[in-house]
Amino acid sequence: MDTYKALVVREKEGRFSRAVEEVPISFLPKNEVLIKVAYAGLNYKDALSASGHKGITREFPHTPGVDAAGEVVETESSLVASGQKVIVTSYDLGMNTKGGFAEYIRVPAKWVVPLPDELSLQDSMAMGTAAFTAALAVDKMERAGQRPEMGEIVVTGASGGVGSMAVAILAKKGYRVIASSGKQEQYSWLKSIGAKRCINRDGVCDESGRPLLSPRWAGGIDTVGGDTLHTLIKSCSKEGSIAVCGLVGSYELKMTVYPLILNGVNILGIDSAETPLTHRKSIWAKLAKEYKPKSVASLTKIVTLDEIPTYMDEILNGETAGRIIAKIS
Ligand SMILES: NC(=O)c1ccc[n+]([C@@H]2O[C@H](COP(=O)([O-])OP(=O)(O)OC[C@H]3O[C@@H](n4cnc5c(N)ncnc54)[C@H](OP(=O)(O)O)[C@@H]3O)[C@@H](O)[C@H]2O)c1
Repeated sequence: MDTYKALVVREKEGRFSRAVEEVPISFLPKNEVLIKVAYAGLNYKDALSASGHKGITREFPHTPGVDAAGEVVETESSLVASGQKVIVTSYDLGMNTKGGFAEYIRVPAKWVVPLPDELSLQDSMAMGTAAFTAALAVDKMERAGQRPEMGEIVVTGASGGVGSMAVAILAKKGYRVIASSGKQEQYSWLKSIGAKRCINRDGVCDESGRPLLSPRWAGGIDTVGGDTLHTLIKSCSKEGSIAVCGLVGSYELKMTVYPLILNGVNILGIDSAETPLTHRKSIWAKLAKEYKPKSVASLTKIVTLDEIPTYMDEILNGETAGRIIAKIS
């Protein structure tokens, strides 16, 4: 094999182009494990990389794709076997290491998670970094004491990848979920995947500057940041946890200490990218069983490698719903 197909983002005079190309195998980095990609997941971070965001990807030409699942074809490590079905999500994949929007990836062995028996490669990418992040959030909230009987949990950016997976996982675990979304047309779908009720995203974004508000939920999973995250924290009831996952609205958080010292609210940071392999495997084991959303298929749209560029702008504009995965080979 001398060449393979990949989505390549190129930079020319400060402008970025995206196209599927046949590239030499030497385009891949020199890592230990060569994987034939079966499915890749599309994420917000990929859309940033595909648009030339230098905070995500420093050098171009580049192939985005932080999520990939497939079969090992060559390995220089005893940790991974040839022919093994595997999942690779985050670490540096798709950021400054050529990513999953391609027929092949080559990665360090310590990034590789064996596919749990209960999951297909397609299911694993239908969940991908989005479900992994949502699962990390639920796991961390429960370790901080969150329980279904404490009351409702709010999820922001609920129609997005992380948001919809959070709704589905929380519902499976017996939580009553409030889905906050800017897309009224997705309310019935959000209810079908587990939301008890849906509210408009404007109603979860208090701009009054007040340091504390009446309690409205017992905990939350936030993908938006800024005033939305602040609203989640200052409207959380006593001893609840707010898991901080994303920044689609803003990277800023301006707040007082009152929710923390008067209500004991926990602010939990979620970093899926650098989760160590042992914890990573235990979260994937949960995703294969007790966290697995009831209908993964209803959360997923399947596209081709050639169609990926079209979806990058839609993701950046917040126009997509649920998970989009690409069937690569
Ligand atoms: N911490 C981690 O380890 C980790 C891992 C994965 C992702 N993330 C981050 O989590 C966030 C979500 O990622 P994703 O892959 O789920 O993205 P996504 O699928 O594009 O979903 C984002 C959702 O956010 C909402 N939204 C979009 N623009 C908004 C705005 N200006 N204000 C408020 N809401 C807006 C929309 O949902 P509604 O229309 O339903 O409101 C949109 O569907 C991103 O910031 C991403 O970088 C973090």
